[in-house]
Amino acid sequence: MNGESDYLHQVSKIRQPNLSDPLTASSPRILIVDDSPTIRFGLKRDLGQMGAIVTEASDGGEGLNIVDSQDFDLIITDIEMPRMDGFTFCSKLKSHPTKNSIPVVMLSSKEKEEDIELGFKVGAASYIKKSNTKKYLLARVKEILDKNSLLKGRTILIVDDSPAVRNLIEKALTKAGFHVESAENGRKALELLSRCTPDMILSDLNMPELDGSGLCKNVHANKDLSQIPFIIMSSDGDRATMRRLLQYGASAYLVKPFNIEQLVVTAERFLSDHFSRILRERERLESERQFLIGSITSLILALEARDQYTRGHSESVSAFVVDIAREMSLGEELIERVKIAGKLHDLGKIGIRDDILLKPGPLNEEEWKVLKLHPLIGAEILAPIQSLADIIPALSSHHERIDGKGYPGGLKGERIPLLARMVAVADTYDALTSDRPYRKGFSNDDALTLIENLQGSQLCPDCVQCFLKSIQRKMQI
Ligand SMILES: [Fe+2]
Repeated sequence: MNGESDYLHQVSKIRQPNLSDPLTASSPRILIVDDSPTIRFGLKRDLGQMGAIVTEASDGGEGLNIVDSQDFDLIITDIEMPRMDGFTFCSKLKSHPTKNSIPVVMLSSKEKEEDIELGFKVGAASYIKKSNTKKYLLARVKEILDKNSLLKGRTILIVDDSPAVRNLIEKALTKAGFHVESAENGRKALELLSRCTPDMILSDLNMPELDGSGLCKNVHANKDLSQIPFIIMSSDGDRATMRRLLQYGASAYLVKPFNIEQLVVTAERFLSDHFSRILRERERLESERQFLIGSITSLILALEARDQYTRGHSESVSAFVVDIAREMSLGEELIERVKIAGKLHDLGKIGIRDDILLKPGPLNEEEWKVLKLHPLIGAEILAPIQSLADIIPALSSHHERIDGKGYPGGLKGERIPLLARMVAVADTYDALTSDRPYRKGFSNDDALTLIENLQGSQLCPDCVQCFLKSIQRKMQI
């Protein structure tokens, strides 16, 4: 269906970056390694309340056996345990070929600086003293899970002409849970970037064919790539060079030689900040959008409340059009848009004079002409709101007819956007079953027969069929 693909295309244009949202991710799986059943019990209860699925092990050896056969998002381990202590457990885990990226939190009553240092040395993501409050531990666990969920499986592109440097960085980043792509110079990197979009670029400065500076300029001139954090690695610590690179769009400048762990931590920090910023921005836009939709819906409700014959019309149309969308097996994200479209479809009536809108009798020709302006008025009202751009067709085209005899554009068949064809069916059914000052509403059966007969002339047959199926389904319940 052309209309459908148009609609889906419009929605995909406004869709936010695809992020694994830590707030909506599935339950985290946590392994607790501790020889004290009391501590395991308390932790299991607290983490369970956070929504985590918890597995227990009584020492490091048992922990390693369990990790071999199950996947975890986080491990919390005690240090002093019989058979295998927490340091050895963590160290062995970090040498595991596939499980080494699971973050480990060490929870211990050993509070000396050298113990803490050893904990981080063997790869712990956090070291928490048992004297800390439970609240602190749970906050730290949540922070690590969120960060891990944001970073897990992200792709980092390494661009360096030295195979040894590429291998070294690739190994360290893979171990930290990243997916790594690599290129030997800027030109090869651009070829790769035409096929895949990494989440971060780590580039050397001096390379043959196209150097880091040229690559950085190219990346930031491309609107599809310009948001990717770009880190330059170079032995040239000259301040002027650094400033020039930052001006070209580089996010940071790492001076070689650097410690490889420092590079991994920097990459994690940059990506974590980058995605946290995008998430915050997405949440802000979503809350603004909800506020906007709420305000417009209130306006429409106020408009309808003045007329007993149209009161609740938009809410009913919204509910019916959602039924049609479900019958079409549209995804939840699209269904949410369809719901809003149903609510706002008659927004343009705000611009129609009361003597026409509230007229108790049938309209004359002149009055009809004015009323027929409401689809375009609605579209004009919504036009400046970019986040609602995808639902404008529901407002502008819900009075078009499949046979081309509708208004305002006289669009025919699938040239009418799918969303508008769906709203038209819901709108017609609700209008038929509602009383008017000059006629009684049709019975449900008569309205359904009429709707069926309007297929192919006024209404889209696919949408009508989905609507009839949804009504049948409801009647069976
Ligand atoms: Fe309308």
